[in-house]
Amino acid sequence: MRDKEILKKTILLVKPHLGRLGIAMVSMVAVAGLSAAQAYMVKPLLDEIFFKKDHLMLNLLPLALVLLFLVKGFFYYCYAYMMERVGHTIIMELRKKMLHHVQLLPAPFFNKTTTGELMSRITSDVILLQAAVSSTLVGVLKDFFQILGLLGVVFYQDWKLALMSMIFLPMATFPIVHFGRRYRRLSTKGQETMAEVSTVLHEALGGNRIVKAFCKEEYEYNRFAAIVDRLFGITVRDIQLRSLAHPIMELLGGIGIALIIWYGGMQVLNGTATPGTFFSFLTALIMIYEPIKKVSSINNTLQQGIAAAVRVFTLLETRPEPYDPPGAVTIPPIAKEIELRHVSFSYDDNTEVIKDLNLTVRAGEVLALVGPSGGGKTTLANLIPRFYEVSRGQILIDGHDIARATLPSLRGQIGLVTQQTILFNDTVRNNISYGEPDRTDEEVIAAARAAHALEFIRELPQGFDTVIGESGSRLSGGQRQRISIARALLKNAPILILDEATSALDTESEREVQKALDNLMQGRTTFVIAHRLSTIKNADRIIVMQDGRIAEEGTHQSLLARNGLYTTLHDMQ
Ligand SMILES: Nc1ncnc2c1ncn2[C@@H]1O[C@H](COP(=O)(O)OP(=O)(O)OP(=O)(O)O)[C@@H](O)[C@H]1O
Ligand SMILES: [Mg+2]
Repeated sequence: MRDKEILKKTILLVKPHLGRLGIAMVSMVAVAGLSAAQAYMVKPLLDEIFFKKDHLMLNLLPLALVLLFLVKGFFYYCYAYMMERVGHTIIMELRKKMLHHVQLLPAPFFNKTTTGELMSRITSDVILLQAAVSSTLVGVLKDFFQILGLLGVVFYQDWKLALMSMIFLPMATFPIVHFGRRYRRLSTKGQETMAEVSTVLHEALGGNRIVKAFCKEEYEYNRFAAIVDRLFGITVRDIQLRSLAHPIMELLGGIGIALIIWYGGMQVLNGTATPGTFFSFLTALIMIYEPIKKVSSINNTLQQGIAAAVRVFTLLETRPEPYDPPGAVTIPPIAKEIELRHVSFSYDDNTEVIKDLNLTVRAGEVLALVGPSGGGKTTLANLIPRFYEVSRGQILIDGHDIARATLPSLRGQIGLVTQQTILFNDTVRNNISYGEPDRTDEEVIAAARAAHALEFIRELPQGFDTVIGESGSRLSGGQRQRISIARALLKNAPILILDEATSALDTESEREVQKALDNLMQGRTTFVIAHRLSTIKNADRIIVMQDGRIAEEGTHQSLLARNGLYTTLHDMQ
């Protein structure tokens, strides 16, 4: 991304806040102007009070000084408050926008990008970007006006001396430019490493039970330590640069001021200038030097911000899953059938995981998918809610190609129980009624009962109000599975996809859940994926999938009679 493009995008972020920014900037200019006035006041202070011994001035000047601080303080408040507020508004808005966008990204994106990386972009990159915007606006403008005002004083007091001190300005820009470039590179590396830190943390902490079981605390520690060490190295180089920039700028300034003292002091001694003029000049010069020094640190923040902006904007520009692709139609709930027509699919454009598959499922039919692991069952199930787009062929619901359906109208009619149960750190009730607060307690209880979950939920410390921990960690595997079945039940969708929904249940509860599922499947078009063949005996039709193809097809009895792959699978159990 080119700098110009980044700037354009950043301006778009700032644009809605121009009103508040305007107030901040006007206040900023006032603060800068008043700072210059303070420098100017040194002249009457010295000349009138100390040299002319004017008593009236002695009373007036301190008063004026207090007044000056009061007014300056007021403007400072306006500018600081408005500026910070705008900055944090931008952070808040960007974060919302990013999560909103990331959620719309298609499933393949999440196979490539780690959770830690995304978290780091949404939490810390946003702050870096905002810091750059704020400090550039505040810094550059405020310091610019302050420098301008003070320059006015300097030239007014003694233009020859002023010209002389300007020689050092160009020299000061060298470290700014040179260090800036290196900062940007370091910042990119730093943030990328920070994302890795998040990823490893996420895995080591989230997977702590496996880590414990395999006694891999040391291994995870080393993995983490290696990245943190690398981050430390990058930070050290950053600190080196930062610490070096300051004394270099200060030295340059010091040389300038030393020369001025020498030359200006000589003029005072010769009587060509008053001590007031000289000290006012010197005060202004020292005050100029502060904001100039700051320009270099602002530049660092700016470079970090640019690096962060590239990541933020790149993420925001990753093509989202089109909720309504052009020409998308709202498809009606299934009435007749789902048809898979010559469907092929591959995750990586090389190996086809589903190969030219043809299949028609009548509405209300219960279709079981069985077969060896890796045969493509889950993949096939993922194609129906369009988590992945088919590579070739079509999937049609009542003749409507789902590729051209609006996602809400497609996914709204599909209930899903996944192979890995996915639950949220929330109450049992909210997990079952997921995102639909207007579901009544009766409905939630009925769903829990049908999923044979009511009994254990009632025994939880706070019943339906028990918070179940991250990913439901406070529940047993079977309990988790029953909650996710209850969630699918409550959605009451006409198409149902059950991927190993009973795999984590013991025979006893499996029998119970099986009854519930049998009820649930009544009148719904159902895809049941199961390894345990006992659970699918009653399916209307069984499909044996192997290597992305349909190997066998029929009912439990007819497949057994064929004495093929199904029989082999059956006999193994
Ligand atoms: N996200 C992915 N990216 C790349 N390849 C994948 C991905 N998910 C699955 N695969 C591959 O696709 C093939 C089919 O996987 P799939 O999960 O559909 O099998 P399955 O029949 O559901 O197996 P199981 O019975 O073990 O659940 C496997 O070879 C697997 O390695
Ligand atoms: Mg699977």
